[in-house]
Amino acid sequence: RAAATARSPWPYASALITGMSGLPDARRKSRLCRRLSRWMRMPVTRVWSCWKGHWKVVKMKRILTGDRPTGRLHIGHYVGSLKRRYKLQEEGNYDEFYIMIADSQALTDNFDNPEKVRKNVIEVMLDYLAVGLNPNKITFFVQSEVNALTELTYYYMNLVTLPRVLRNPTVKSEINSKNFNESIPVGFATYPISQAADITAFKANIVPVGDDQEPMIEQTREIVKSFNRIYDTDTLVLCESLLPNNIYQRRLVGTDGNAKMSKSLNNCIYLSDDKETIKEKVFSIKTTSRRIDEPGIIDGNILFMYLEAFCEDIHFKKYYSEFNNLDELKIAYQKGGIGDASVKRFLTEVINDELTPIRERRREYAEDLEKVYNILKEGTKKAKKTADKTIVEVKKAMKLNYFEDSEYLNELLNSK
Ligand code: TRP
Repeated sequence: RAAATARSPWPYASALITGMSGLPDARRKSRLCRRLSRWMRMPVTRVWSCWKGHWKVVKMKRILTGDRPTGRLHIGHYVGSLKRRYKLQEEGNYDEFYIMIADSQALTDNFDNPEKVRKNVIEVMLDYLAVGLNPNKITFFVQSEVNALTELTYYYMNLVTLPRVLRNPTVKSEINSKNFNESIPVGFATYPISQAADITAFKANIVPVGDDQEPMIEQTREIVKSFNRIYDTDTLVLCESLLPNNIYQRRLVGTDGNAKMSKSLNNCIYLSDDKETIKEKVFSIKTTSRRIDEPGIIDGNILFMYLEAFCEDIHFKKYYSEFNNLDELKIAYQKGGIGDASVKRFLTEVINDELTPIRERRREYAEDLEKVYNILKEGTKKAKKTADKTIVEVKKAMKLNYFEDSEYLNELLNSK
């Protein structure tokens, strides 16, 4: 049975409607949605209209994403993911939105340094609030507090082979860069499986992430399909990644030109950096030396990679009015006559334009840490409830629900 394919609501739905006359409207609707979801093998939140057999159903949108709390967030996180989250929040076109601080996952390569993880949980939470993410619209939570996630991970581990885990390109490159050699911790190698638990526990179908997380989404989809097939169920929901718009945003290079902005490489611009620091970092970016009147080269030019990721036409109006947009600047730069210093000055303004309100909001929240702490605490409570519901369904599908299942006792009694 192809459990993951959606079925048409027709003709099942009309039978449902006839069978449910008499219930009050809201209850009738929610029951209809629940039963339709089961039939269609996809979550349905709203049934808009039914008219002579023409149905308009709205697929439920549940968004989930997260970050490892190993340091403050930087502008790579911002263009790669945080900005998109903010946009999704403002569009409001979703049913549930979860953002997880992945402390358990952070431990998989920091198990000997829990203090680092502990300290950064609140820093990351501050960064979220600073970029404008709103706790009334998004549920923020801490991974390690949600027990269901570890439980799910353990069950999912049976569905993934060892070679498959080690084939994950992101895990592969991380293993190489960390010099684990032969002594790779099992927890580290298998963290994509726990990521599948994070996503499926909330039945998320949309996961906004950067490029490097694409293999995790693929792994999750494989687990969902295997689980639903093996246990003949439709409990788990297939997810899709939502990637940033352009390649520069998907993976922002470091200020030293390294392919990834990363704390350990010391090549980051942090959301919390002040104006002076940003200026210093931007002016320290290396470009090929040339005389001003010589043509500039865009290819491989870090300054332009940052501009591609960050700037909008409005920035030109405000800070570089000789040009209307990035294309015009690029043409002039390639012709010659534009020095790197003026591009750096412009880039500094652009980054500051984005980061100034963020910095200010961060400072305000940092003055009320108890409030921030409580946001995370309340969110975690709510997340726990949702994940617990899923684990009940998962165990039922796996027939591990002995004490909720009266059939089980009957079987025992009858088998004598
Ligand atoms: N692996 C992600 C990162 O390194 C964090 C993460 C953990 C995550 N669980 C997730 C992201 C689930 C999206 C969905 O940033």
